[in-house]
Amino acid sequence: MPEGRVEGIAKVTGKGKYSAEYDVKDLCYGVLVGSTVPSGKIESINLENAKQVLGVVDIITHLNKETVPGLADEAKIKESRFGLPVFHTDKIFFKGQPIALVIAETLEDAVYAASLVEAKYKTDQFNVDFKKSHPEIPLKEEGKERGDLNNWNNASNIIEAEYTIKAEVHHPMEMHATTAEWISPDKLKLYDKTQGVNGVQKTFAKLFGIPEKNIEVISEFVGGGFGSGLRVWPHALAAVMAAKKVKRPVKLMLTRSQMFAGSGYRPASWQKVKLGADANGKFTGISHQAKNGTSKYENFSEGITRVTRLIYKFDNLKTEAAIVPLNLSTPTWMRGPGDCTGDFAIESAIDELSYKLNQDPLELRLKNLALEKNPETGLPWSTNFLDECLAKGAEMINWKERKSSPKQLVDGDWYTGYGMAVGMWNAGRANASAAIKMTKDGIITVQTAMTDIGTGTGTGMQNIASEITGIPKSNIKIELGNSNLPPAPSQGGSNGMSSVSGAVVEASKALKLKLAEYAALQNSTYKNVTADDILLSDKDIYLKSANSSFISFSEIWENNNLTEIIVDGSSGPGEERKKFSFCSSAAHFCKLKVNIKTGKVKIEKMVCVADGGKIVNDKAAANQMSGAAVGGIGMALMEEQTVDTKLGALIGDDLAGYHFPVNADAPIIQVGFIGKPDPNINPTGAKGLGEVGIIGTAPAIANAIFNAIGKRLRDLPITPDKILG
Ligand code: MOS
Repeated sequence: MPEGRVEGIAKVTGKGKYSAEYDVKDLCYGVLVGSTVPSGKIESINLENAKQVLGVVDIITHLNKETVPGLADEAKIKESRFGLPVFHTDKIFFKGQPIALVIAETLEDAVYAASLVEAKYKTDQFNVDFKKSHPEIPLKEEGKERGDLNNWNNASNIIEAEYTIKAEVHHPMEMHATTAEWISPDKLKLYDKTQGVNGVQKTFAKLFGIPEKNIEVISEFVGGGFGSGLRVWPHALAAVMAAKKVKRPVKLMLTRSQMFAGSGYRPASWQKVKLGADANGKFTGISHQAKNGTSKYENFSEGITRVTRLIYKFDNLKTEAAIVPLNLSTPTWMRGPGDCTGDFAIESAIDELSYKLNQDPLELRLKNLALEKNPETGLPWSTNFLDECLAKGAEMINWKERKSSPKQLVDGDWYTGYGMAVGMWNAGRANASAAIKMTKDGIITVQTAMTDIGTGTGTGMQNIASEITGIPKSNIKIELGNSNLPPAPSQGGSNGMSSVSGAVVEASKALKLKLAEYAALQNSTYKNVTADDILLSDKDIYLKSANSSFISFSEIWENNNLTEIIVDGSSGPGEERKKFSFCSSAAHFCKLKVNIKTGKVKIEKMVCVADGGKIVNDKAAANQMSGAAVGGIGMALMEEQTVDTKLGALIGDDLAGYHFPVNADAPIIQVGFIGKPDPNINPTGAKGLGEVGIIGTAPAIANAIFNAIGKRLRDLPITPDKILG
């Protein structure tokens, strides 16, 4: 049986604390009041009724706030790149924008008082409708044009179509929350839901003009993120401002409803793809245009066309992108950001082309994959086994059962179809560090500031430390998610394991060498050994080559009067990035049934095979992939943040109104890995998996729907009305 997660028991028993669950002495509670209009100016705010509520400690608005240095004036606001200058402006950019923060002795007092805050606005014109024509901001291209569009514009096989995707909201299980405490006038302590404690430290250091080391950020357990925890949102600053004003710790948790406009979302998008191929199916060129929504106060670009430049050999290619400012909050990265959006368009177009050419869509892709080198940079891939992912996935879904034309597998009202798509992601890596603490009993604790957002980072670190040192996993503890621990990047962009694994390898080697130093004082065969010569067990150190070399930890501790040993290690990208390009990739397959009377889509089976380099922990990696597949099902069939274009409001902003897959909607998801370590990316060969699990899922489903009923659907989510329409 595969082993569980290091944090598993703490999470399922409730022992592990999320950021809103810490008890802090003298705590009070903050509740945000949101604007009731989508655009305009605050004319006045009436706090009188709210202040009457017993238990109210204070109420912050833009009129009485203590200025945050990083938001002091226009220039500072720009420089801090915080986004929304919360409580530092009377301008309203979206409905729900925080206009006041009620601070009270209890959450109930604060909620009630917040309901009594009244504001008057001078309203302005607004636009929340991504579909309507509006001014847009063209973006600098993500890469250069290849060849010439005129070379293929008139090719015999052309697919030209538009694709649209509604905005989606992350909705991790744990809501965003911050508990802020000023320890002294320039020392801050935060329990914050985040994907990167060091990033939060940096942001608040800038905002308040205090040293980073004066800010402690704790995010020991995180109940999911999907990208929503990659930046600091207005509520976190609101909590910090409140704690400063009332000189007491303040806890502020967003409500589920506030999460819709308070912690980012995947923006609505529009794309147009024109894809050409010769008679044999070799791609001749592609033009890819994309737009995504953003807010009125920040320019957010997803990078929708990036993936188009990555996967296939297009000699002629042109991509263009623009963003559309709307009266909504700023969107952000969400699982497979940009790439999973762009991939829906190109993988749908390629599928459409396959029917036009009467070729198997899998064969068509194999013919055109850029397996040798990154077509954008020209650098050879360090490793790229996308072809093997395709072969393995085809076997697992039983691809040969697929019919080459729609409406062939019919059982009453149910039509069965098979679909597939591929996805790819630039495999990154950043500097990371880790420490290992060892005590006499042979227990080691591996530490890093990196958070584990549910991906299995801690479990992976335990596996690596055990593999390198030889110490059994049961003797290895993990501590993470605290800015006092060795610094590490945010967990995002599938960079977590790729970055931190190198640091854990280095720290593990350092531990072996440190113990060997002590061992050498007793036994001269330990002189001048390398880390690779040494192994540790639950109780002793020994040399792989010498049977007589065992020295127990207790002996080392006693002879040297030790209490504990602490070592550290760090690791980061280097010269290899000049020689190679790095990617993770995946092939996605879907078998589903469509009911032509009700429009219901029932997914029977999803298969996802990934090349993520070395798989550090099978169970955690498979969880990553199957979780992403569920997210992809939501993207394809259910998830949409709906707006009321007349009121400029979000509607259905709760988990009853926002549909995503529950267990009954999630079919059998089979995950496969190629599992070949990448020899160049980092010391472990792990390339990262988070994103490729979802990049390609939605087009695989849309393509399967076409294979079932012969209807090409290019607007996500594909709800029953679109099937029937
Ligand atoms: Mo993610 S969008 O890599 O947290």
